Amino acid sequence: MLLSVLFFLLFGSTTISSARILGIVPTPSYSHQIVFRPLWKELSLRGHQVTSITTDPMKDKSLTNLTEIDLHFSYKTWNEKINMVKMAKLNVIGFLNYVVEVGGYFSNEQLQDPEVQRSLNNDSENYDLVLMESFFPTMAMFAKKFKCPLIQILSLDGSSYMYHSIGNPAHPVLNPDFLLNFNEKLTFFERSISTFTLLFLDYYHYPNIVRTHQLLVNKYFGNKYPSLVKTLKRASMMFVNSDIIFHRVRPVLPNVIQFGGGVHFATPKPLAKDLKELLDKSTNGFIYFSLGNNVKGELLAEHTRRVFLETFAELPYTVLWKFEQDVLPEKPVNIIMSKWFPQQDVFRHPNIKLVITQGGLQSIEEAIYNHIPIIGMPFIADQQANIQNIVDRGLGLSVDFNTIDKKTFKKIILEVINNPTYRNKVKELEELLKDQPMTGIKRAAWWAKYVIRHKGATHLKSAVLDLPDYQSYLLDVISFCVLVVLAVGYVLVKLGKLIY
Ligand SMILES: *[C@@H]1O[C@H](CO)[C@@H](O)[C@H](O)[C@H]1NC(C)=O
Ligand SMILES: *[C@@H]1O[C@H](CO)[C@@H](O)[C@H](O)[C@H]1NC(C)=O
Repeated sequence: MLLSVLFFLLFGSTTISSARILGIVPTPSYSHQIVFRPLWKELSLRGHQVTSITTDPMKDKSLTNLTEIDLHFSYKTWNEKINMVKMAKLNVIGFLNYVVEVGGYFSNEQLQDPEVQRSLNNDSENYDLVLMESFFPTMAMFAKKFKCPLIQILSLDGSSYMYHSIGNPAHPVLNPDFLLNFNEKLTFFERSISTFTLLFLDYYHYPNIVRTHQLLVNKYFGNKYPSLVKTLKRASMMFVNSDIIFHRVRPVLPNVIQFGGGVHFATPKPLAKDLKELLDKSTNGFIYFSLGNNVKGELLAEHTRRVFLETFAELPYTVLWKFEQDVLPEKPVNIIMSKWFPQQDVFRHPNIKLVITQGGLQSIEEAIYNHIPIIGMPFIADQQANIQNIVDRGLGLSVDFNTIDKKTFKKIILEVINNPTYRNKVKELEELLKDQPMTGIKRAAWWAKYVIRHKGATHLKSAVLDLPDYQSYLLDVISFCVLVVLAVGYVLVKLGKLIY
Protein backbone atom coordinates (compact mmCIF):
# COMPACT_ATOMS: atom_id res chain seq x y z
CA MET A 1 0.00 0.00 0.00
CA LEU A 2 2.64 2.44 1.13
CA LEU A 3 4.78 1.31 -1.75
CA SER A 4 2.08 1.97 -4.29
CA VAL A 5 1.42 5.43 -2.86
CA LEU A 6 5.11 6.14 -3.11
CA PHE A 7 5.15 4.77 -6.63
CA PHE A 8 2.25 7.03 -7.56
CA LEU A 9 3.94 10.07 -6.06
CA LEU A 10 7.10 9.30 -7.95
CA PHE A 11 5.74 8.28 -11.32
CA GLY A 12 1.97 8.89 -11.33
CA SER A 13 2.46 12.61 -11.13
CA THR A 14 4.90 12.66 -14.00
CA THR A 15 2.02 12.27 -16.48
CA ILE A 16 2.22 15.22 -18.82
CA SER A 17 0.09 18.08 -17.60
CA SER A 18 1.29 20.57 -20.18
CA ALA A 19 2.12 19.07 -23.54
CA ARG A 20 3.29 20.72 -26.72
CA ILE A 21 0.82 20.14 -29.51
CA LEU A 22 1.09 21.05 -33.19
CA GLY A 23 -2.20 21.26 -35.13
CA ILE A 24 -1.98 21.62 -38.91
CA VAL A 25 -4.91 22.37 -41.24
CA PRO A 26 -3.47 23.42 -44.64
CA THR A 27 -6.71 23.54 -46.69
CA PRO A 28 -7.41 27.19 -47.55
CA SER A 29 -11.12 26.87 -46.97
CA TYR A 30 -12.93 28.44 -44.05
CA SER A 31 -15.21 25.46 -43.57
CA HIS A 32 -12.21 23.18 -43.07
CA GLN A 33 -10.66 25.57 -40.57
CA ILE A 34 -13.56 26.41 -38.27
CA VAL A 35 -14.13 22.77 -37.37
CA PHE A 36 -10.78 22.62 -35.55
CA ARG A 37 -10.69 26.02 -33.93
CA PRO A 38 -12.66 24.79 -30.90
CA LEU A 39 -10.23 21.88 -30.56
CA TRP A 40 -7.14 24.12 -30.48
CA LYS A 41 -8.96 26.36 -28.04
CA GLU A 42 -10.01 23.49 -25.78
CA LEU A 43 -6.52 21.98 -25.72
CA SER A 44 -4.87 25.31 -24.98
CA LEU A 45 -7.36 26.06 -22.20
CA ARG A 46 -6.44 22.71 -20.66
CA GLY A 47 -2.96 24.13 -20.19
CA HIS A 48 -1.24 22.67 -23.27
CA GLN A 49 1.04 24.74 -25.46
CA VAL A 50 -0.67 24.58 -28.83
CA THR A 51 0.76 25.78 -32.15
CA SER A 52 -1.71 25.87 -34.99
CA ILE A 53 -0.68 26.12 -38.64
CA THR A 54 -3.78 27.53 -40.28
CA THR A 55 -5.06 29.65 -43.14
CA ASP A 56 -7.56 31.38 -40.83
CA PRO A 57 -6.06 32.27 -37.46
CA MET A 58 -8.50 33.12 -34.67
CA LYS A 59 -6.31 35.93 -33.34
CA ASP A 60 -7.94 35.56 -29.92
CA LYS A 61 -5.63 37.32 -27.46
CA SER A 62 -7.23 35.61 -24.46
CA LEU A 63 -5.81 32.26 -25.61
CA THR A 64 -2.32 32.84 -24.29
CA ASN A 65 -1.22 29.21 -24.79
CA LEU A 66 -2.11 29.20 -28.47
CA THR A 67 0.40 30.28 -31.13
CA GLU A 68 -0.87 30.63 -34.68
CA ILE A 69 1.15 30.39 -37.88
CA ASP A 70 -0.84 32.24 -40.50
CA LEU A 71 -0.96 30.76 -44.02
CA HIS A 72 -3.79 32.97 -45.22
CA PHE A 73 -1.85 33.76 -48.41
CA SER A 74 -2.81 30.29 -49.70
CA TYR A 75 -6.28 31.60 -50.48
CA LYS A 76 -4.82 33.50 -53.39
CA THR A 77 -3.67 30.35 -55.16
CA TRP A 78 -6.81 28.48 -54.12
CA ASN A 79 -9.17 31.12 -55.43
CA GLU A 80 -7.23 31.49 -58.66
CA LYS A 81 -7.31 27.77 -59.36
CA ILE A 82 -10.55 26.56 -57.87
CA ASN A 83 -13.61 27.27 -59.94
CA MET A 84 -16.35 25.21 -58.33
CA VAL A 85 -18.85 25.62 -61.12
CA LYS A 86 -16.38 24.42 -63.73
CA MET A 87 -15.11 21.71 -61.42
CA ALA A 88 -18.62 20.43 -60.75
CA LYS A 89 -18.84 19.73 -64.50
CA LEU A 90 -15.63 17.66 -64.62
CA ASN A 91 -15.95 13.91 -64.40
CA VAL A 92 -14.80 12.27 -61.19
CA ILE A 93 -11.30 11.46 -62.46
CA GLY A 94 -10.78 14.93 -63.89
CA PHE A 95 -12.05 16.50 -60.69
CA LEU A 96 -9.83 14.45 -58.40
CA ASN A 97 -6.73 14.92 -60.55
CA TYR A 98 -7.34 18.64 -60.50
CA VAL A 99 -7.70 18.78 -56.73
CA VAL A 100 -4.45 16.85 -56.30
CA GLU A 101 -2.68 19.24 -58.64
CA VAL A 102 -3.94 22.35 -56.85
CA GLY A 103 -3.09 20.74 -53.51
CA GLY A 104 0.49 20.13 -54.58
CA TYR A 105 0.75 23.69 -55.75
CA PHE A 106 -0.38 25.45 -52.59
CA SER A 107 1.33 22.94 -50.29
CA ASN A 108 4.60 23.83 -51.99
CA GLU A 109 3.96 27.51 -51.29
CA GLN A 110 3.02 26.83 -47.68
CA LEU A 111 6.25 24.97 -47.04
CA GLN A 112 8.18 28.03 -48.15
CA ASP A 113 6.49 30.20 -45.55
CA PRO A 114 9.22 31.66 -43.28
CA GLU A 115 7.60 30.44 -40.08
CA VAL A 116 7.05 26.93 -41.41
CA GLN A 117 10.66 27.02 -42.59
CA ARG A 118 11.80 28.03 -39.12
CA SER A 119 10.10 24.95 -37.65
CA LEU A 120 11.56 22.77 -40.40
CA ASN A 121 15.08 23.95 -39.70
CA ASN A 122 15.00 24.28 -35.94
CA ASP A 123 16.47 21.15 -34.42
CA SER A 124 15.79 22.13 -30.84
CA GLU A 125 12.06 22.56 -31.37
CA ASN A 126 9.97 19.66 -30.11
CA TYR A 127 6.35 18.55 -29.85
CA ASP A 128 4.50 15.76 -28.05
CA LEU A 129 1.77 15.37 -30.66
CA VAL A 130 1.01 16.42 -34.24
CA LEU A 131 -2.57 16.60 -35.50
CA MET A 132 -2.83 16.97 -39.24
CA GLU A 133 -5.69 17.39 -41.67
CA SER A 134 -4.53 14.84 -44.18
CA PHE A 135 -6.23 15.82 -47.44
CA PHE A 136 -2.96 17.52 -48.44
CA PRO A 137 -0.57 15.58 -46.23
CA THR A 138 3.01 16.83 -46.73
CA MET A 139 3.25 18.39 -43.29
CA ALA A 140 2.29 15.13 -41.59
CA MET A 141 6.05 14.53 -41.71
CA PHE A 142 6.44 17.01 -38.86
CA ALA A 143 5.44 14.07 -36.66
CA LYS A 144 8.55 12.27 -37.89
CA LYS A 145 10.73 15.32 -37.50
CA PHE A 146 9.55 15.81 -33.91
CA LYS A 147 9.55 12.03 -33.24
CA CYS A 148 6.06 12.19 -31.79
CA PRO A 149 2.69 10.52 -32.48
CA LEU A 150 0.49 11.67 -35.35
CA ILE A 151 -3.30 11.96 -35.40
CA GLN A 152 -4.99 12.36 -38.77
CA ILE A 153 -7.92 14.77 -38.59
CA LEU A 154 -10.66 15.34 -41.16
CA SER A 155 -13.04 18.28 -41.32
CA LEU A 156 -15.68 16.17 -43.05
CA ASP A 157 -16.54 12.51 -43.24
CA GLY A 158 -13.63 10.61 -44.73
CA SER A 159 -13.55 9.23 -48.23
CA SER A 160 -13.22 5.44 -48.23
CA TYR A 161 -9.50 5.60 -49.08
CA MET A 162 -8.87 7.70 -45.97
CA TYR A 163 -10.46 5.08 -43.77
CA HIS A 164 -8.42 2.42 -45.56
CA SER A 165 -5.27 4.47 -45.09
CA ILE A 166 -5.28 3.60 -41.39
CA GLY A 167 -6.72 0.13 -41.75
CA ASN A 168 -10.40 0.86 -41.12
CA PRO A 169 -12.67 -1.17 -43.41
CA ALA A 170 -15.00 0.75 -45.74
CA HIS A 171 -17.65 -1.50 -47.19
CA PRO A 172 -18.90 -0.47 -50.66
CA VAL A 173 -22.50 -1.44 -49.86
CA LEU A 174 -22.71 -0.17 -46.32
CA ASN A 175 -20.70 3.00 -46.95
CA PRO A 176 -20.49 4.01 -50.61
CA ASP A 177 -17.92 6.76 -51.07
CA PHE A 178 -19.19 10.29 -50.43
CA LEU A 179 -18.52 11.16 -54.06
CA LEU A 180 -21.52 8.98 -54.90
CA ASN A 181 -25.04 10.03 -54.03
CA PHE A 182 -26.62 6.64 -53.48
CA ASN A 183 -29.67 5.83 -51.41
CA GLU A 184 -29.52 3.41 -48.52
CA LYS A 185 -30.59 0.45 -50.65
CA LEU A 186 -28.19 -0.03 -53.54
CA THR A 187 -29.19 -1.64 -56.82
CA PHE A 188 -26.86 -4.11 -58.52
CA PHE A 189 -25.61 -1.34 -60.80
CA GLU A 190 -24.93 0.98 -57.86
CA ARG A 191 -23.14 -1.73 -55.92
CA SER A 192 -20.90 -2.30 -58.91
CA ILE A 193 -20.20 1.42 -59.30
CA SER A 194 -19.56 1.72 -55.58
CA THR A 195 -17.07 -1.15 -55.67
CA PHE A 196 -15.23 0.25 -58.68
CA THR A 197 -15.13 3.72 -57.12
CA LEU A 198 -13.61 2.29 -54.00
CA LEU A 199 -10.96 0.40 -55.95
CA PHE A 200 -10.27 3.46 -58.08
CA LEU A 201 -9.78 5.65 -55.01
CA ASP A 202 -7.55 3.10 -53.31
CA TYR A 203 -5.39 2.15 -56.25
CA TYR A 204 -5.36 5.32 -58.35
CA HIS A 205 -6.36 8.42 -56.42
CA TYR A 206 -4.66 7.81 -53.09
CA PRO A 207 -1.33 6.77 -54.68
CA ASN A 208 -1.63 9.91 -56.81
CA ILE A 209 -2.00 12.14 -53.73
CA VAL A 210 0.77 10.41 -51.87
CA ARG A 211 3.11 10.58 -54.88
CA THR A 212 2.54 14.31 -55.26
CA HIS A 213 3.19 14.99 -51.60
CA GLN A 214 6.08 12.55 -51.27
CA LEU A 215 7.94 14.74 -53.78
CA LEU A 216 7.33 17.72 -51.51
CA VAL A 217 8.38 15.69 -48.48
CA ASN A 218 11.68 14.84 -50.22
CA LYS A 219 12.16 18.46 -51.14
CA TYR A 220 11.46 19.97 -47.72
CA PHE A 221 12.01 17.24 -45.14
CA GLY A 222 14.69 15.28 -47.00
CA ASN A 223 14.56 11.52 -47.37
CA LYS A 224 15.82 10.40 -44.01
CA TYR A 225 12.31 9.48 -42.80
CA PRO A 226 9.95 6.59 -43.55
CA SER A 227 7.72 7.21 -46.55
CA LEU A 228 4.67 9.45 -46.30
CA VAL A 229 2.31 6.56 -46.93
CA LYS A 230 3.84 4.62 -44.03
CA THR A 231 3.69 7.66 -41.81
CA LEU A 232 -0.02 8.14 -42.49
CA LYS A 233 -0.69 4.43 -42.09
CA ARG A 234 1.02 4.45 -38.70
CA ALA A 235 -0.94 7.44 -37.45
CA SER A 236 -2.11 6.72 -33.92
CA MET A 237 -5.68 7.79 -34.53
CA MET A 238 -8.02 9.53 -36.92
CA PHE A 239 -10.54 12.15 -35.79
CA VAL A 240 -13.38 12.49 -38.29
CA ASN A 241 -15.95 15.26 -38.33
CA SER A 242 -18.83 12.90 -38.93
CA ASP A 243 -21.87 12.52 -36.78
CA ILE A 244 -22.89 9.00 -35.80
CA ILE A 245 -26.56 9.94 -36.32
CA PHE A 246 -26.46 12.25 -39.35
CA HIS A 247 -24.02 10.27 -41.43
CA ARG A 248 -24.65 6.79 -42.69
CA VAL A 249 -23.94 4.20 -39.98
CA ARG A 250 -20.30 3.14 -40.25
CA PRO A 251 -18.28 0.51 -38.40
CA VAL A 252 -15.15 2.19 -37.04
CA LEU A 253 -12.05 0.95 -35.25
CA PRO A 254 -11.44 2.15 -31.69
CA ASN A 255 -8.76 4.52 -33.01
CA VAL A 256 -11.23 6.32 -35.27
CA ILE A 257 -13.09 8.99 -33.33
CA GLN A 258 -16.21 10.51 -34.86
CA PHE A 259 -16.31 13.88 -33.17
CA GLY A 260 -18.89 15.57 -35.41
CA GLY A 261 -22.14 17.24 -34.56
CA GLY A 262 -22.08 21.03 -34.75
CA VAL A 263 -18.58 21.38 -33.35
CA HIS A 264 -18.09 24.70 -35.11
CA PHE A 265 -21.12 26.42 -33.53
CA ALA A 266 -20.30 29.84 -32.16
CA THR A 267 -21.93 31.48 -29.17
CA PRO A 268 -25.01 33.45 -30.31
CA LYS A 269 -24.49 37.14 -30.97
CA PRO A 270 -27.22 39.72 -31.46
CA LEU A 271 -27.85 40.69 -35.08
CA ALA A 272 -26.85 44.12 -36.35
CA LYS A 273 -29.69 46.62 -35.92
CA ASP A 274 -30.51 47.04 -39.63
CA LEU A 275 -30.55 43.35 -40.35
CA LYS A 276 -32.61 42.60 -37.25
CA GLU A 277 -35.22 45.20 -38.18
CA LEU A 278 -35.42 43.87 -41.68
CA LEU A 279 -35.90 40.27 -40.55
CA ASP A 280 -38.40 41.30 -37.83
CA LYS A 281 -40.37 43.11 -40.51
CA SER A 282 -40.45 40.06 -42.77
CA THR A 283 -43.48 38.64 -40.97
CA ASN A 284 -44.29 36.45 -43.95
CA GLY A 285 -40.93 34.77 -43.41
CA PHE A 286 -37.56 34.82 -45.11
CA ILE A 287 -35.36 32.45 -47.08
CA TYR A 288 -31.59 32.22 -46.70
CA PHE A 289 -29.66 31.42 -49.87
CA SER A 290 -25.94 30.76 -49.91
CA LEU A 291 -23.75 28.55 -52.04
CA GLY A 292 -20.95 28.63 -49.47
CA ASN A 293 -17.55 30.23 -49.63
CA ASN A 294 -16.16 28.40 -52.63
CA VAL A 295 -19.03 28.77 -55.11
CA LYS A 296 -18.72 32.44 -55.90
CA GLY A 297 -21.82 34.11 -57.30
CA GLU A 298 -20.06 35.50 -60.33
CA LEU A 299 -19.05 32.00 -61.39
CA LEU A 300 -22.67 31.06 -61.96
CA ALA A 301 -23.92 30.99 -65.53
CA GLU A 302 -25.95 34.02 -66.52
CA HIS A 303 -28.94 31.80 -67.21
CA THR A 304 -28.80 30.17 -63.76
CA ARG A 305 -28.49 33.53 -62.05
CA ARG A 306 -31.55 34.79 -63.92
CA VAL A 307 -33.57 31.74 -62.87
CA PHE A 308 -32.70 32.46 -59.24
CA LEU A 309 -33.63 36.13 -59.55
CA GLU A 310 -36.90 35.59 -61.36
CA THR A 311 -37.97 32.81 -59.01
CA PHE A 312 -37.19 34.82 -55.88
CA ALA A 313 -38.97 37.87 -57.31
CA GLU A 314 -42.22 35.92 -57.47
CA LEU A 315 -42.07 34.72 -53.86
CA PRO A 316 -43.97 36.36 -51.00
CA TYR A 317 -40.82 36.11 -48.83
CA THR A 318 -37.72 38.13 -48.18
CA VAL A 319 -34.63 36.41 -49.56
CA LEU A 320 -31.18 36.89 -48.05
CA TRP A 321 -28.70 36.00 -50.76
CA LYS A 322 -25.05 35.66 -49.90
CA PHE A 323 -23.52 36.87 -53.11
CA GLU A 324 -19.96 37.79 -53.95
CA GLN A 325 -20.70 40.48 -56.50
CA ASP A 326 -21.22 44.12 -55.69
CA VAL A 327 -24.03 44.97 -58.04
CA LEU A 328 -26.65 42.59 -59.24
CA PRO A 329 -28.52 43.95 -62.24
CA GLU A 330 -32.33 43.93 -62.06
CA LYS A 331 -32.44 43.07 -58.37
CA PRO A 332 -36.03 42.70 -57.12
CA VAL A 333 -36.88 44.54 -53.88
CA ASN A 334 -37.45 41.43 -51.76
CA ILE A 335 -33.88 40.25 -52.33
CA ILE A 336 -31.23 41.42 -49.89
CA MET A 337 -27.72 40.73 -51.02
CA SER A 338 -24.51 40.79 -49.11
CA LYS A 339 -21.06 39.28 -49.42
CA TRP A 340 -21.42 38.05 -45.91
CA PHE A 341 -24.17 37.40 -43.36
CA PRO A 342 -23.74 36.26 -39.76
CA GLN A 343 -25.19 32.95 -40.89
CA GLN A 344 -25.51 31.22 -37.52
CA ASP A 345 -27.28 34.19 -35.96
CA VAL A 346 -29.52 34.68 -38.98
CA PHE A 347 -30.57 31.03 -38.67
CA ARG A 348 -31.70 31.68 -35.10
CA HIS A 349 -34.22 34.30 -36.20
CA PRO A 350 -37.78 33.01 -35.74
CA ASN A 351 -38.98 34.23 -39.17
CA ILE A 352 -36.65 31.98 -41.15
CA LYS A 353 -38.57 29.54 -43.37
CA LEU A 354 -35.98 27.82 -45.53
CA VAL A 355 -32.26 27.44 -46.20
CA ILE A 356 -31.04 26.91 -49.76
CA THR A 357 -27.49 25.58 -49.65
CA GLN A 358 -24.85 23.88 -51.76
CA GLY A 359 -24.77 21.20 -49.07
CA GLY A 360 -21.69 21.93 -47.00
CA LEU A 361 -21.83 19.96 -43.78
CA GLN A 362 -21.59 22.99 -41.51
CA SER A 363 -24.50 24.86 -43.08
CA ILE A 364 -26.62 21.73 -42.93
CA GLU A 365 -25.84 21.26 -39.25
CA GLU A 366 -26.67 24.89 -38.53
CA ALA A 367 -30.00 24.50 -40.32
CA ILE A 368 -30.90 21.27 -38.52
CA TYR A 369 -30.06 22.59 -35.05
CA ASN A 370 -32.28 25.59 -35.76
CA HIS A 371 -35.16 23.47 -37.11
CA ILE A 372 -35.02 24.84 -40.65
CA PRO A 373 -35.94 22.71 -43.69
CA ILE A 374 -33.41 22.60 -46.52
CA ILE A 375 -33.19 22.75 -50.30
CA GLY A 376 -29.88 21.42 -51.56
CA MET A 377 -28.02 22.43 -54.70
CA PRO A 378 -24.88 20.26 -54.55
CA PHE A 379 -21.69 21.10 -56.44
CA ILE A 380 -18.77 18.92 -55.37
CA ALA A 381 -17.11 16.55 -52.90
CA ASP A 382 -19.31 15.46 -50.02
CA GLN A 383 -22.13 17.84 -51.00
CA GLN A 384 -23.88 15.25 -53.18
CA ALA A 385 -23.94 12.71 -50.41
CA ASN A 386 -24.99 15.27 -47.79
CA ILE A 387 -27.91 16.43 -49.88
CA GLN A 388 -28.96 12.88 -50.74
CA ASN A 389 -28.98 12.27 -47.01
CA ILE A 390 -31.23 15.32 -46.51
CA VAL A 391 -33.66 14.07 -49.15
CA ASP A 392 -33.65 10.48 -47.82
CA ARG A 393 -34.42 11.68 -44.33
CA GLY A 394 -37.23 13.93 -45.51
CA LEU A 395 -35.55 17.13 -44.28
CA GLY A 396 -35.97 18.85 -47.65
CA LEU A 397 -35.52 18.49 -51.40
CA SER A 398 -32.76 18.96 -53.92
CA VAL A 399 -32.38 20.73 -57.27
CA ASP A 400 -29.75 20.44 -59.98
CA PHE A 401 -28.19 23.83 -60.70
CA ASN A 402 -27.39 22.76 -64.28
CA THR A 403 -30.96 22.09 -65.34
CA ILE A 404 -32.88 24.32 -62.98
CA ASP A 405 -35.86 26.31 -64.33
CA LYS A 406 -38.13 28.86 -62.70
CA LYS A 407 -41.26 26.73 -62.56
CA THR A 408 -39.72 23.73 -60.77
CA PHE A 409 -37.56 25.85 -58.50
CA LYS A 410 -40.56 27.86 -57.33
CA LYS A 411 -42.68 24.75 -56.88
CA ILE A 412 -39.99 23.07 -54.78
CA ILE A 413 -39.47 26.15 -52.62
CA LEU A 414 -43.20 26.47 -51.90
CA GLU A 415 -43.51 22.76 -51.20
CA VAL A 416 -40.69 22.71 -48.64
CA ILE A 417 -41.96 25.86 -46.93
CA ASN A 418 -45.68 25.02 -46.87
CA ASN A 419 -45.61 21.32 -46.18
CA PRO A 420 -44.91 20.96 -42.43
CA THR A 421 -43.51 17.43 -42.68
CA TYR A 422 -40.06 18.73 -43.64
CA ARG A 423 -39.71 20.96 -40.60
CA ASN A 424 -41.10 18.23 -38.35
CA LYS A 425 -38.55 15.74 -39.62
CA VAL A 426 -35.77 18.27 -38.99
CA LYS A 427 -36.98 18.68 -35.40
CA GLU A 428 -37.11 14.93 -34.87
CA LEU A 429 -33.57 14.53 -36.14
CA GLU A 430 -32.27 17.37 -34.01
CA GLU A 431 -33.64 15.63 -30.89
CA LEU A 432 -31.50 12.60 -31.77
CA LEU A 433 -28.41 14.58 -32.74
CA LYS A 434 -28.12 16.52 -29.52
CA ASP A 435 -28.58 13.50 -27.25
CA GLN A 436 -24.92 12.61 -26.64
CA PRO A 437 -22.88 11.86 -23.53
CA MET A 438 -20.34 14.60 -24.18
CA THR A 439 -19.49 17.07 -26.91
CA GLY A 440 -17.36 15.90 -29.81
CA ILE A 441 -14.64 18.39 -28.94
CA LYS A 442 -14.38 17.08 -25.38
CA ARG A 443 -14.14 13.55 -26.78
CA ALA A 444 -11.45 14.53 -29.29
CA ALA A 445 -9.48 16.44 -26.64
CA TRP A 446 -9.63 13.45 -24.31
CA TRP A 447 -8.27 11.10 -26.96
CA ALA A 448 -5.55 13.56 -27.97
CA LYS A 449 -4.34 13.56 -24.40
CA TYR A 450 -4.61 9.76 -24.33
CA VAL A 451 -2.24 9.53 -27.30
CA ILE A 452 0.18 11.88 -25.56
CA ARG A 453 0.01 9.88 -22.31
CA HIS A 454 0.77 6.61 -24.07
CA LYS A 455 3.11 8.07 -26.70
CA GLY A 456 0.92 6.69 -29.48
CA ALA A 457 -1.79 4.08 -29.66
CA THR A 458 -0.16 1.10 -31.36
CA HIS A 459 -2.33 -1.21 -29.28
CA LEU A 460 -5.41 0.08 -31.13
CA LYS A 461 -4.01 -0.57 -34.60
CA SER A 462 -5.87 -2.64 -37.14
CA ALA A 463 -4.18 -5.95 -37.91
CA VAL A 464 -5.19 -5.48 -41.55
CA LEU A 465 -2.44 -2.88 -41.94
CA ASP A 466 0.21 -5.60 -41.94
CA LEU A 467 -1.56 -7.86 -44.43
CA PRO A 468 -1.18 -7.71 -48.20
CA ASP A 469 -4.44 -6.60 -49.85
CA TYR A 470 -5.15 -9.98 -51.42
CA GLN A 471 -5.27 -11.43 -47.93
CA SER A 472 -7.44 -8.76 -46.32
CA TYR A 473 -9.87 -8.94 -49.27
CA LEU A 474 -9.81 -12.76 -48.96
CA LEU A 475 -8.91 -13.14 -52.62
CA ASP A 476 -6.77 -16.20 -51.82
CA VAL A 477 -9.58 -17.88 -49.87
CA ILE A 478 -12.17 -17.10 -52.55
CA SER A 479 -9.84 -18.41 -55.27
CA PHE A 480 -9.29 -21.56 -53.28
CA CYS A 481 -13.07 -22.10 -52.89
CA VAL A 482 -13.61 -21.55 -56.59
CA LEU A 483 -10.86 -24.03 -57.41
CA VAL A 484 -12.36 -26.65 -55.08
CA VAL A 485 -15.81 -26.22 -56.65
CA LEU A 486 -14.31 -26.49 -60.14
CA ALA A 487 -12.27 -29.56 -59.19
CA VAL A 488 -15.26 -31.30 -57.60
CA GLY A 489 -17.39 -30.41 -60.63
CA TYR A 490 -14.74 -31.78 -62.95
CA VAL A 491 -14.47 -35.04 -61.01
CA LEU A 492 -18.27 -35.44 -60.92
CA VAL A 493 -18.55 -34.89 -64.68
CA LYS A 494 -15.74 -37.40 -65.33
CA LEU A 495 -17.38 -39.91 -62.96
CA GLY A 496 -20.76 -39.36 -64.63
CA LYS A 497 -19.21 -40.07 -68.03
CA LEU A 498 -17.55 -43.22 -66.70
CA ILE A 499 -20.79 -44.55 -65.20
CA TYR A 500 -22.96 -43.95 -68.28
C1 LIG B 1 -1.76 28.26 -20.08
O1 LIG B 1 -1.13 27.09 -19.58
C2 LIG B 1 -0.80 27.09 -18.21
C3 LIG B 1 -0.12 25.79 -17.88
O2 LIG B 1 0.82 25.46 -18.84
C4 LIG B 1 -2.05 27.28 -17.38
O3 LIG B 1 -1.70 27.38 -16.02
C5 LIG B 1 -2.79 28.54 -17.83
O4 LIG B 1 -4.03 28.63 -17.15
C6 LIG B 1 -3.06 28.49 -19.32
N1 LIG B 1 -3.66 29.74 -19.73
C7 LIG B 1 -4.74 29.81 -20.52
C8 LIG B 1 -5.28 31.15 -20.83
O5 LIG B 1 -5.30 28.82 -20.98
C1 LIG C 1 14.02 26.81 -31.90
O1 LIG C 1 13.12 26.18 -31.01
C2 LIG C 1 13.40 26.45 -29.63
C3 LIG C 1 12.46 25.58 -28.80
O2 LIG C 1 11.12 25.79 -29.13
C4 LIG C 1 13.21 27.95 -29.36
O3 LIG C 1 13.50 28.22 -28.01
C5 LIG C 1 14.13 28.72 -30.29
O4 LIG C 1 13.90 30.10 -30.14
C6 LIG C 1 13.92 28.33 -31.73
N1 LIG C 1 14.91 28.96 -32.57
C7 LIG C 1 14.62 29.69 -33.65
C8 LIG C 1 15.73 30.22 -34.43
O5 LIG C 1 13.43 29.88 -34.00
